[in-house]
Formats: sequence, structure tokens, C-alpha cells
Amino acid sequence: MRGLPDKGGIIINKKELEKWKKKLKEKPLPNHVAIIMDGNGRWALKRGLPREEGHRVGVETLKKITRSSGELGIKNLTVYAFSTENWRRPRKEVTFLMDLFHRTFEREAKELLANNVRVFFFGNRAGLAKNLQKIMGKLENETANCDGIFLNIALNYGSRQEITEAAKALCRKGEQEFSEKNLEKFFYSSNCPDVDLLIRPGGEMRLSNFLLWQAAYAELFFTETFWPDFTEKDLYLAVEDFQNRQRRFGRVGGE
Ligand code: FPP
Repeated sequence: MRGLPDKGGIIINKKELEKWKKKLKEKPLPNHVAIIMDGNGRWALKRGLPREEGHRVGVETLKKITRSSGELGIKNLTVYAFSTENWRRPRKEVTFLMDLFHRTFEREAKELLANNVRVFFFGNRAGLAKNLQKIMGKLENETANCDGIFLNIALNYGSRQEITEAAKALCRKGEQEFSEKNLEKFFYSSNCPDVDLLIRPGGEMRLSNFLLWQAAYAELFFTETFWPDFTEKDLYLAVEDFQNRQRRFGRVGGE
């Protein structure tokens, strides 16, 4: 396991943070960062709060991390908001989450636009409420010309479902060549490069059906920090760790 689980708590002042950022910018950055935003429920329970409070604070973390990622120079950020398996949660929590997504997309549209964030959704939209689908489409349209950072929100997303549906679509099209490249054209991520760095806060070390294909050669970074506590520093630690890895893509080192 690689990662620096204990360093997220380091105290650092604004000036040092700026210096750190500058240093990170001098080396190649991951072009596509993916995050499994885990630990909201446990964060809340630890404080004697309802799980929903963890999700509410989780939204604030996402806003901060989107801003920090953009400022650092990361071009593509994909976050896991709701999986195809998350419907198995208690109905009260699912209803809360859907409502939270709706309110957030409506409320944040202006700020996303002002910050030049282009939003795109990954996942099976048809399985979501009509009014949520509508607000998602509206947000995508409104931010379609933004090019500061591309924020992909995976909502009702499952990687196996994405691959299966892509395979079906390719068969229907009767593509001559059943190749990797042609299959990828039907992914939600078809306009996006492969994942370079995949971050999972919350202490679990698994992929949970997230971007299995796209993360085939991603560097993985796990941290104990719960998502609501995740800060710019944790992002920097993950990026710094990424920059110290040797990516071989199946080759031997030093070629
Ligand atoms: C995992 O925590 C988080 C989720 C199921 C998704 C919720 C994510 C947010 C509310 C932040 C992003 C918001 C938007 C608007 C895209 P968990 O409940 O699995 O935590 P646990 O593992 O501690 O139970």
C-alpha cells in the first residue's frame, strides 16, 4: 500500500502552502484525478451527528477541493457521488442525498460558471428522478463553454454497467472493429483522458466499481482522513506522492 495516511493533519501556514503549491506545479501534474468521496457517515457518527450532516459537509469539501484542484492546474476531476449500488441504503438517506444533489446543483450553478468550471455527469440518468435529470442537464448546458477545470460528477454510476452498456451499443452499431478504442467511445468518459491519480479517503482500500477501465494504470492513493475533513493539504500530499512514483505502463524502468 502506498500513501501517507498520517500526514494530512500537519499544521502548515498559508505562506508554506503557497510554496508547496509552487513546487508541485514545477513537476508534471496528474491530468485526471478521480476521488471516491468516502467517510461522510463515519465523520458524522464520530461527532454524534446524523449521517446526513456528513454528506452536507461533504458538499462543502467538494467545493473547496474543486477550487484547489483548479488552482493547482489539474484539468480533469471526477468524483463519485452516488453509485448504482448506493440505492441499497436506507430510503431516508437516499431521499436526502437526491434532494441534496438537486439543491446543490441549483444553488452552485452561478458560482461554478463564475469559476470557469465545466460540469458533466457520468452515470445512468434515466434511473434518476425527472426533475433531477433536468437540473443536471441545465447545469451541463450552462457551463458547457467553461474550460478552467472539467468536473465530472458520477451519479448513479457503476463501472460494470458502463462497460456493459458500451459493449451493447457497439454491437448495435455493428462496428467492424470491436476494439478498445471503439468501445471507449461509448463510455461516459469518452471525452476524458484516462485517470492518472485515484484518491480514496475514509480508510477503505478498494475501487467500489468506480472507473475500473479508465483507472487501469492510475496511481492509487489511500488516506484515513474522512472526506468532510479532506483539505487542500491532503490533495497536495496525494499529488506529491504521485509525482514521486515511477509510472511504467507495463514497461521495465529506465527505458
Ligand atoms: C460516502 O460516504 C459518500 C456518498 C455516498 C456520496 C455523497 C457525497 C457527497 C454528499 C458529496 C458530493 C456532493 C455533490 C453535490 C456531488 P459514506 O456515507 O459512504 O460514508 P461512510 O463510509 O462513513 O458510511
